[in-house]
Amino acid sequence: MRYEGIRMCDGKNHLEAGNGHGSFILILRYAFHHGNGDTPWESVVFASQDSVAYNRCLKFSWPRFSFPRHADWWKIKQKEIFEVKIFMTGGTGFVGNALAEALVEKGFSVTILTRHASAQKKGHEGTFVVEGDPRKRGKWQELLLDQDVVINLAGASIFQRWNDRQKQIIRESRVLTTQQIVKILSLNPEKKIDLINASAVGYYGYHGDEIIDEGVPSGTDFLASVCREWEAVALNAKTPGSRVVLCRFGVVLGRQGGALQKLLPLFQWGLGARLGTGKQWFSWIHERDLVRIIIYLLENRDREGPVNCTSPEPVRNEDLTRCLGKALKRPIVMPPVPGFVLRIALGGFSMTLLKGQRVIPKALKDDGFFFKYPELAGALQDIVSG
Ligand SMILES: NC(=O)c1ccc[n+]([C@@H]2O[C@H](COP(=O)([O-])OP(=O)(O)OC[C@H]3O[C@@H](n4cnc5c(N)ncnc54)[C@H](OP(=O)(O)O)[C@@H]3O)[C@@H](O)[C@H]2O)c1
Repeated sequence: MRYEGIRMCDGKNHLEAGNGHGSFILILRYAFHHGNGDTPWESVVFASQDSVAYNRCLKFSWPRFSFPRHADWWKIKQKEIFEVKIFMTGGTGFVGNALAEALVEKGFSVTILTRHASAQKKGHEGTFVVEGDPRKRGKWQELLLDQDVVINLAGASIFQRWNDRQKQIIRESRVLTTQQIVKILSLNPEKKIDLINASAVGYYGYHGDEIIDEGVPSGTDFLASVCREWEAVALNAKTPGSRVVLCRFGVVLGRQGGALQKLLPLFQWGLGARLGTGKQWFSWIHERDLVRIIIYLLENRDREGPVNCTSPEPVRNEDLTRCLGKALKRPIVMPPVPGFVLRIALGGFSMTLLKGQRVIPKALKDDGFFFKYPELAGALQDIVSG
């Protein structure tokens, strides 16, 4: 039983504990409550070494397998212990905003880089906002070097008709941004700053009914090539002692942005319909589970490389249509939207709606990550009623 407290320090269980100050405070608590002559400190430290907080311990040069005695805790400046510093690009967006809120609540220091630090894009309360263009060199890069982790979410929306100009914007907003981050990180490898980089399940291209895990190679279409290039650039940030995590997001479901923000009004007006055959796969993730996953990946320093950030239950487009109608209590009366209509209206983007990929989050499942919203019906019910 004495190890119960230790298990709480591990990244994923810590998240479930909902502690407000990061896993380090759990270690402190355990130390105060159970600290006596025979407390197995080695185990305490060992259990927490996956976390960013542990990384912070290393920066204080504490011996790897020993812990300070009670009296020594007070010699350490509290502010420095608890402040794990996060630098975010795209922190004003749909995912970034939800993530920033959760990080601030958990006691992380969050700095957001935005191109327009206007009243509308102040960033979430409690965050520091810096103005700058992540695609270009700038003063923001100096600030980045004072951080522990960079979370790179910047990218122009793909939810629009694609023409050559749009495709260039989609690509450059991701690849150039990541290049600028990587440049400054690789010039300063001694800083050991982790990079958590967004990517998308679009990396895999279109695969029919095949089940896709992180080992499946990239596809050949436009989105797949953007993701491949984006990830390849990000991986250059890896140095001894730092990690690069490639978060391949499924379609993120939430009220405040992304696909659902566009779909909900249509379904509410009774205009919801299956797209094409309706048999294409749809890999999705509830916004709140995605935020939990990113924080888990931030704290679990064993995990690096590609991670599918999707629910364990992908569905077909026809199931999405039915579940959305049910959650909104709207019957689906419209005939399916023919593929050629979508192709004319949306250009290349229509392919992401008419074809899909059946992605499973193998890495997260192997880690025993707990999904609060594994099934679409429950996720949509939560979002619609929230
Ligand atoms: N939402 C999804 O379903 C989904 C699925 C798969 C992958 N992703 C990826 O996850 C990331 C975040 O998604 P999101 O839905 O939160 O996106 P979002 O709401 O569109 O926000 C993206 C952010 O990127 C920045 N940005 C937009 N256009 C830019 C440009 N041309 N150059 C540089 N920065 C630009 C914006 O920040 P400022 O205006 O403040 O500079 C914006 O806040 C994106 O990279 C996206 O590709 C999202």
